[in-house]
Amino acid sequence: MSDNNNDSNTTSTIWGARFSDGPSAVMEEINASIGFDKRLYAQDIRGSRAHAQMLVAQGILTEADGKSILQGLDEVEGEIVAGTFEFSRTLEDIHMNVENRLREKIGDAAGRLHTARSRNDQVATDLKLWVRDALDGLDDALKDLQAALIERAEEHAATVMPGFTHLQAAQPVTLGHHLLAYTEMLGRDRSRVRDCRARMNESPLGSAALAGTSFPIDRDMTAKALGFDQPTQNSLDSVSDRDFALEYLSLLSILSVHLSRMAEEMVIWASQQFAFIRISDDFSSGSSIMPQKRNPDASELVRGKAGRVFGALMGMLTVMKGLPLTYGKDMQEDKEPVFDASDTAELCVAAMAGMYKSATFNVDNMKRDAGKGFTTATDLADWCVRVLNLPFRDAHHVTGAVVKLAEDKNCELEDLSLEEFQSINPGITDEIYSVLGVDNSVSSRTSLGGTSPQNVLAQVANARERFLA
Ligand code: ARG
Repeated sequence: MSDNNNDSNTTSTIWGARFSDGPSAVMEEINASIGFDKRLYAQDIRGSRAHAQMLVAQGILTEADGKSILQGLDEVEGEIVAGTFEFSRTLEDIHMNVENRLREKIGDAAGRLHTARSRNDQVATDLKLWVRDALDGLDDALKDLQAALIERAEEHAATVMPGFTHLQAAQPVTLGHHLLAYTEMLGRDRSRVRDCRARMNESPLGSAALAGTSFPIDRDMTAKALGFDQPTQNSLDSVSDRDFALEYLSLLSILSVHLSRMAEEMVIWASQQFAFIRISDDFSSGSSIMPQKRNPDASELVRGKAGRVFGALMGMLTVMKGLPLTYGKDMQEDKEPVFDASDTAELCVAAMAGMYKSATFNVDNMKRDAGKGFTTATDLADWCVRVLNLPFRDAHHVTGAVVKLAEDKNCELEDLSLEEFQSINPGITDEIYSVLGVDNSVSSRTSLGGTSPQNVLAQVANARERFLA
């Protein structure tokens, strides 16, 4: 409500002679998008520059008008950047705010800028340019997060910890291997960013309101000037397409799933019960009542903010699902979810990168827990297959009996005596102890993609090449 809207006669100027009265206050409030679409100012002005230059090149605008439009646009942009521009809600959106200010500066030539275009192709172009920039920024941010994970993975290539399935200790793994798993997830996110960018990079500009235009425009020229690969092929589709926004929100949603899982794990690892990680002071907070508390707030917020991003996707899908061709004002509702999800995801990626860079891993606790819960039982079974030549199913049976014995005696597998092992299978020799330690266990997992420290170091080099080069 706070944008200045004292210029109440501007609307009738813009709509021309047909409207004698201005809108009611409620109409103005529901109709205006300037409160949020001012974020598109740079893209809007960039699009206008390209359009004006094309109009001049095609002889639709005079050189003189073109020159004054470009100069005026520079000045308008300067005012917005400097914070001196007065956005007006009566002027509804960023497109009309910019054009109106241009008119104040250069007079009638400003009115010629809107030849052969409409706000419908203009807004589609602006939002595409904005999303494209956001995708590029996101890719950089994800790369930074991957770099942090890869660095910590290298440092902890040989740190053993329990690996989990069902959140039950399963087999020992290396922390480096665990962290590199997230690097792969984020690599898929980045490949979705690239796909989305490649698919959306076609220019709608010049589709005009919906049907194209009778002016001899050059859409290839504007497409090229704006860094698009080519113009879109159907004017009706061009002004009604928001697939790029939906795809962007979809990939942000999948990314948010990943960030939320990483964050959830940090919350678990930071608990006293696990004590695998100490989140640095700058990403923790205390309790106002319990002085001993150290809460993983940033992780919890990353986990929680996933809900906002999913909400943006659901909202946008719902806005679009009932719209017949072509543009409907409903589509003005595309911007807030896109901006909010974008800001949210960017913040969450930065928070996760900050936390991984600064966290302390409690390697002693990880190692201590790595062997708890008979996590080397599979190594025992594998040994029986390899050395005693038992079929794996039989080896599984022998191992089950050994685990039961250890459970009954309330000890770990390596605490059983050789006689006890032999009471279950007489063929077992004391070589068995060499596979029961967690270090032996992880070192033996050298299969492609496996957890051994040697693999992790190779995977670190490989990840640097694939993701950071
Ligand atoms: N503010 C509008 C939007 O964000 C711009 C397009 C308006 N077009 C129209 N025909 N009213 O979608």
